[in-house]
Amino acid sequence: MREKILALILAAGKGTRFKSEKNKVLHPLMGKSMLHWVVDSVSRLKPEGIYVVVGYQKEEVLKEPFQKNVHFVSQERQLGTAHAVQSAEAVLEKWPGKSVLIINGDLPLITPETLKPLINLHEKERNALTFLSADVDDPKGFGRIARGKDKTIRIVEERDATSSELKIREINAGIYMFRVKDLFQVLPKISNANKKREYYLTDAIEIMASERKKIGVCKAANAEEIVGVNDRYELSRVAKVLRDRKIRSLAEDGVTVYDPETTWIDVDVLIGIDTVIHSSVRIEGKSVVGANCTVYPFVHLVNARIGNNVKILSSTMIEESVIEDDVRVGPFSHLRPKTVLKKGSRIGNFVEMKNTVFGPYSKAGHLTYLGDAEVKENVNIGAGTITCNYDGREKHKTLIEDEAFIGSGTELVAPVKIGKGAYVGAGSTITKNVSPDSLAVSRGKQVEKRGWAKRKKKN
Ligand code: UD1
Ligand code: CA
Repeated sequence: MREKILALILAAGKGTRFKSEKNKVLHPLMGKSMLHWVVDSVSRLKPEGIYVVVGYQKEEVLKEPFQKNVHFVSQERQLGTAHAVQSAEAVLEKWPGKSVLIINGDLPLITPETLKPLINLHEKERNALTFLSADVDDPKGFGRIARGKDKTIRIVEERDATSSELKIREINAGIYMFRVKDLFQVLPKISNANKKREYYLTDAIEIMASERKKIGVCKAANAEEIVGVNDRYELSRVAKVLRDRKIRSLAEDGVTVYDPETTWIDVDVLIGIDTVIHSSVRIEGKSVVGANCTVYPFVHLVNARIGNNVKILSSTMIEESVIEDDVRVGPFSHLRPKTVLKKGSRIGNFVEMKNTVFGPYSKAGHLTYLGDAEVKENVNIGAGTITCNYDGREKHKTLIEDEAFIGSGTELVAPVKIGKGAYVGAGSTITKNVSPDSLAVSRGKQVEKRGWAKRKKKN
């Protein structure tokens, strides 16, 4: 690209067809909002500035974590796409000689590879306006490109189109390059004399053509990218495309994903070489999975950091937690925020942890809850061990030192400390610290009444 351009993203509309209380462009897709996808694609063109037209729920849009060069302009009432562009006049008119890329905010599939030819054509032909069109099988919902005999050209919106115009399969993508000077000359000439009573940006084409302004049309090579997400069904179609792109790029980087149809991996997730992901897995947010791991079906990771050579067995959920190398976790484990499984540890069925550091080579095989605990190296936690970490008002800590052995069915009433190498007898309720190398047992003594059951049955 030779000249520096500006970018304007239209995102003020409510998205009525989306039927949501939330602004359509804020709906999430594979780890970022629909609008964020558009902003990120446009950013990769390195424009001089990115302006987003906001209106409906603008406070919410402003909260999105955008790059520093993203600015906002306000469209108080949403009177149409031309009116939206008009609201950016004050910021754009400072650059009359430059061109501005205008793009609808509901095009999350768009890539820089499709935008670049549009910009190049605009600059090469020195046009006043160049816009992107696409040939599609199903033009429903799009503005149609109506080309007349004597090279006249205009865009007709679907609801204003005649039955023969509706058959046109060349559609308007909603992406335009305007020379700023020409843009602000044409905008005041656009009327709202249409079915929707809106000021259509698309009317600029017919007006500029009649004024013999130089107009170019760039055909999108990849029409798949031109999905304007107007309703929730389109959102689901777009999600599938984005999912497939992510899985393809992981595959190219040496990750096996057996069943792309049922696997959802957010765009920012990183996965190491030779890791194998089985069917029906969901990995969200900024999760990182190391090399040579195996992730079995129905695993759900949210902002998890997984080391190398880790096995995550079926139906396990891990949120905001860290798993070091050589760990095996699951099936049916739940690691809640701030859990750390140290190297070589083993966690089994129905084990839940929260805010717990679980030491190297320690084991908790079955039916256990550890909350606010620190478990050191080589500890064995018997089946059914429970930390009683909450007294109804405050959380308390449990500390279990190296080599300790906690018998099955133990309750550890926090705050409490189990010393190094100590044993806790099965079925104990531990309320006091246990010193190193001792045995603590706290349970009723077993009594036996011989013949008692037999006598009861006779009565
Ligand atoms: C628009 C085009 C249509 C094109 C299609 C491509 C017009 C009139 N029509 O139709 O030719 O085929 O996109 O997907 O432009 N917006 C505002 N302020 C407003 C109105 C809309 O910021 O007052 C924003 C919306 O938030 C949205 C974008 O502009 O991101 C497009 O609006 P939308 O209503 O989706 O236009 P379409 O009917 O899809
Ligand atoms: Ca749209």
